[in-house]
Amino acid sequence: MVDIANMNQKMEFTKEEISEKVAELGARITKDYEGKKLLIIPLMKGAFIFASDLIRNIDMNLSIEFLKTSSYNDLLESSGEVKIDDDIEIEISEYDVLVVDDIVDSGITLKAVTEHLSKRNPKSLKTCTFLDKPERRQVEFVPDYCGYEIENNFVIGYGLNYIGDDYRNLPYIFSISPKDE
Ligand code: IMP
Ligand code: MG
Repeated sequence: MVDIANMNQKMEFTKEEISEKVAELGARITKDYEGKKLLIIPLMKGAFIFASDLIRNIDMNLSIEFLKTSSYNDLLESSGEVKIDDDIEIEISEYDVLVVDDIVDSGITLKAVTEHLSKRNPKSLKTCTFLDKPERRQVEFVPDYCGYEIENNFVIGYGLNYIGDDYRNLPYIFSISPKDE
């Protein structure tokens, strides 16, 4: 595990704040998708913890398909290219699709994924991310549902990893930065 003891660490969102926000997002989605055939597509691996909490706060029948992308290759910044490692396996033209991710940073991942999925003509296609760092955007992208907008810091926990899978399993979110900054 990468040692972060020599870095500045700041608590950003506690377990309680996270669960309140997820409940709020779930309630909005339940209302907006009433009577629709909802398909949730979490992006692996980052979104799996947020998505599993989110779907338990969506009070209606829904389907789930996972999609795995890579671009980071364990680096802390997007390589600028998004690869679909594992695609969804079903026909989506009957579904109102909601793509779920942990965070939007450059916007490159979600832009590429939504372009990829829109070619399959879903009934509708929206996105939901727990966090958004709008200042870091390299391409135009605005999530339809967002938990919190945050500043330019690197955040870990609640599915968000540092290097490899390190710190994904923390139940809260904190930011890290070099000590001399
Ligand atoms: P984007 O394509 O640059 O928007 O990158 C989105 C992906 O980068 C997210 O799904 C995360 O996996 C990862 N990412 C971006 N910022 C952070 C961060 O602060 N902590 C951990 N992962 C991040
Ligand atoms: Mg990710």
